[in-house]
Amino acid sequence: MDAYHSFTPADGHGLPHDPIKAIVAPRPIGWISSIDRAGMINLAPYSYFNLFSHKPAILIFGSEGCKDTVRNVSETGEFVFNLATEDFADALNRTSLPHAADVNEFAAAGLGMADSETVSVPRVANIAAAMECKLVSVQELTDASGRTIGSHLVIGEVMRVHIAKACLADGLFDIVRARSIARCGYRGDYIVVENTFEMLRPTRNDSIRDVGHSKG
Ligand SMILES: Cc1cc2nc3c(=O)[nH]c(=O)nc-3n(C[C@H](O)[C@H](O)[C@H](O)COP(=O)(O)O)c2cc1C
Repeated sequence: MDAYHSFTPADGHGLPHDPIKAIVAPRPIGWISSIDRAGMINLAPYSYFNLFSHKPAILIFGSEGCKDTVRNVSETGEFVFNLATEDFADALNRTSLPHAADVNEFAAAGLGMADSETVSVPRVANIAAAMECKLVSVQELTDASGRTIGSHLVIGEVMRVHIAKACLADGLFDIVRARSIARCGYRGDYIVVENTFEMLRPTRNDSIRDVGHSKG
């Protein structure tokens, strides 16, 4: 029997549920606050999200369709990333409801707002960490043949970072203490960070030693 279930996505996966998002998991959640041209505030979770560069810090998230967040960020050039943690999980989930554009999801989810310093978009009050971002670009995604697929990639540069001091341990941001959550692949599947392990990158000298060992 073949050891692998292999499939071509365009032809279907042949399983009860699509496994692709379960393979690329867990995915961090960008809980994105934004504001439209008229000043209407918005908040929604995006788990097609990650940090793609460190200096400068570049955050990217993907929207399937052109949702309110993408429209707002395109209009104003600003957004805030709020860290998703276990204590905010229910509220975060509530902000994913397809509210009308004139609904402030902070209010709808019973969340407080805290002023940002470099952008006019508020962050979630009492959040473990948040990053204020200025828009770099919004790109429309295409497939390999160049056809647009209706998804948008939002790229932003981090301008200011906020960390709750309660989540700092010896000067390090402690994601176990923060209880960061991430999305697993299937509907309603999440993970909370409960431990970490250390594995330092090998130095050049280590790898020369290792090669020496394997030869010896
Ligand atoms: C945990 C979580 C992660 C999500 N990630 C995404 C995502 O990466 N891209 C997307 O288009 N929608 C995602 N959604 C759905 C959006 O949050 C939802 O469509 C929301 O209504 C969009 O709000 P907006 O129109 O105010 O931007 C996610 C929902 C949840 C609960």
